Amino acid sequence: MHYGHFSDNGKEYIIRRWDTPKPWVNYLTNGRFHSMISHIGSGHSYYLDFELNPITFRGNQQLLEAVPGKFLYLRDNETDEVWNANVAPCMKSEHFEARHGFGYTTISSTYNGIAARITYCVSEDDAEIWLVELANTTDRKRDLSVFSYSELVMGEYSFEALGPWFAHAMSSLRFENDAILGTKKFVKAPDGKSAIHWPYSLYVTTSLPPDGYETNRDKFVGMYRTLLNPRAVAENSVSNQGNDGESPLASFKWDLTFAPKESKEFSVVTGLVSFGDTHALSARLAKYKSLDNARKELARVQASWKTLLERFTVQTPDRFLDIDVNYWTKYQVVINALTWRNINNYYGCFDPGSGAGGFRNILCDAEGILAIDPADARHRIVTLAGYMMSDGRMAHSTPRPDIHVPPTSIGHKVDDAIWLLIAVEDYIRETGEHAILREEVSYLDGPTEPLWKHITKGMARLVNVKGQRGLPLLGTGDWNDALNGAGKNGIGESVWMGMFVFYGLTMALDVFGRFLPDIPEVKPLLARYKTRAEELKRIVNDQCWNGEYFIRAFDDRGETIGDKHCKEGAFYIEPQVWSVITGIADATRGLAALEAAEKHLLTPYGMQLLTPAYTEYDPGIGVISAFGPGTHENAAVFSQANIFGMVAWAMAGKGDRALNLYKCITPIGMSDERIALRELEPFVQCQYVDGHASQHFGRGACHWLTGTAAWIFKGLTEWVLGIRPTLDGLLIDPSIPAEWAFYEVKRPLRGSIYNIRVENPTHVTRGVKEIFVDGKKMTTARIPFATDKKKHEVRVIMG
Ligand code: GLC
Repeated sequence: MHYGHFSDNGKEYIIRRWDTPKPWVNYLTNGRFHSMISHIGSGHSYYLDFELNPITFRGNQQLLEAVPGKFLYLRDNETDEVWNANVAPCMKSEHFEARHGFGYTTISSTYNGIAARITYCVSEDDAEIWLVELANTTDRKRDLSVFSYSELVMGEYSFEALGPWFAHAMSSLRFENDAILGTKKFVKAPDGKSAIHWPYSLYVTTSLPPDGYETNRDKFVGMYRTLLNPRAVAENSVSNQGNDGESPLASFKWDLTFAPKESKEFSVVTGLVSFGDTHALSARLAKYKSLDNARKELARVQASWKTLLERFTVQTPDRFLDIDVNYWTKYQVVINALTWRNINNYYGCFDPGSGAGGFRNILCDAEGILAIDPADARHRIVTLAGYMMSDGRMAHSTPRPDIHVPPTSIGHKVDDAIWLLIAVEDYIRETGEHAILREEVSYLDGPTEPLWKHITKGMARLVNVKGQRGLPLLGTGDWNDALNGAGKNGIGESVWMGMFVFYGLTMALDVFGRFLPDIPEVKPLLARYKTRAEELKRIVNDQCWNGEYFIRAFDDRGETIGDKHCKEGAFYIEPQVWSVITGIADATRGLAALEAAEKHLLTPYGMQLLTPAYTEYDPGIGVISAFGPGTHENAAVFSQANIFGMVAWAMAGKGDRALNLYKCITPIGMSDERIALRELEPFVQCQYVDGHASQHFGRGACHWLTGTAAWIFKGLTEWVLGIRPTLDGLLIDPSIPAEWAFYEVKRPLRGSIYNIRVENPTHVTRGVKEIFVDGKKMTTARIPFATDKKKHEVRVIMG
């Protein structure tokens, strides 16, 4: 590969050049302490929520620059030359290699005869660890000074964004016992109203007693200088002073001499404890004086990722699909869940509902992790159910619902309730634990009710409130957030929502019908659901099919969106693919809609969200028409929508078409040319790539935080490989390319492990002839769930 490649076992992405088109980033996180790190050591850290508790500085230009970051400066005291062990920001390196792995990143680089290697990880006890190795590769003695550099914020990003001068006024740093200790006396409380002492104490410590330290960034960098040439390093001097109310920094200085071929190892650890917890603080400082303890934390992080990722694995004839499902996409799903979609290089968390976060996205991640960590998924689902009002409106924008950061907007996305139902149904299929429906969950405005009530309250306005044609209202957007102008006056209707509500009602009929038959109010409710589902099926099929494809919506002005006569936005992807997923269209029409979608929308990089792109802003349609043509929802190739397409093709029994769409989207296994064009991490799904109408057709945007990952994992395993827990047993229903002769899946389910081998001797794309469980031939299509918590061998013969 041009820039890098996967390791042979697929578990690391190895980058060979530092000049990648964008910084290629890994997330190091334990679910609380989050640290983003690029292949050159740029990145920032925060605790729980980026806005409340930034730890290190983020900056606004991170995409274009190599700063800020987790830097180690090296200074050759014979020549006065300065460079960085992690490469950024000086960007000097003769040999470079970075390895992104699960929970860690290692950057190795050699310059001036000094080989450096730093491995970064985040420990279970809320600390970012740098394990540093420096080696003199030459035959002469070397005299170096080494400086660590972490630019601090310590709470309250909004101050930082407004202007650091005031934000810094409340911070304080001291050097004690070979550690720098930091605090901030005044930050915004999570409710956004009052001010509190920052509830954490920061410590930065090292296993190698330093020869000096600096706590003031301005002194370190010096006037009229930049991080390329900081004064402290150039002049080899630090102030050894604490800092009250000035630009905060944690930097250690070590003066190190190296005999020929000598190497040295040490750690730098940046962690948090609760403010005032002096016991925890002393314990951490004592612990991290030892390099060995830091090493043990790295080993622990690596072991726990291995356990998590290797719980559910597949082996197919497609090596890259295996690497994707077994490792990187699954890793991405877990990372998305662990961060609660809080921040990436593109989005801050200030309005997560219109960015990466938000109700439906967090639920989507919960579904994604279900099969590998059902208890965690449950926690996310129940937490989200508590993020709604007792009148049924969801709090769509939720920076960090688990720590009760107040929502920034209520009820403006109409589809949220159905995503909650889907997640709950998925959870019951996975675990069998339908008691979740009766779990008492409180609303944001007080009262407590069983979870099923939350769902039905959320669905009420979709069932009872209808537009002129009888479709659900579009409001300020459905799945397509950017279609936010067409229904804002309460008249516009969404065809896609008509399909989605039909899907939700069908699901509710099944789930509530089975598990809540004893509740008197459920029966009449389900009768209403049934009538409404039938009505929606009729309306969608009779009024929203234009002879070739499904139209997208009707706006407040009564105009159609996504129909043949529209000059722009004449064809939208969502209703075509969801006509199949929801089952609202019959098989013939569903297939016709998918074929039409490919005919109108397919590019070499996947299907565009719509065509042609909007060129002028039309407030009566929404912000979608203001985005640059070919970008964002305005006719970009939206990754998640393509994966919806993949699932639709698989449901229609066309495994080859399904995989074709998937291959257009996933970077795993892409050619060098595509990677260079796409620009983003070759091991991470992105939100979209630019469409035809953009000058940068094929360029990727917005890495990491996208529901694409969850849908790839779920879609490939459940619909392509067809290993699907249902409410009535484990269904094996492959929808694969004909050339596949066999595949294997290790599937944990309800405490048992199923080792499934699917053989395809006659090279069909669908159809199961025989199933053997532990050697016994099955007479039913669905395998009853085992209750013995043992391993079971399943052999499936297609034909
Ligand atoms: C973004 C949002 C997601 C939304 C999609 C389409 O990816 O995070 O929730 O459905 O855009 O608008």
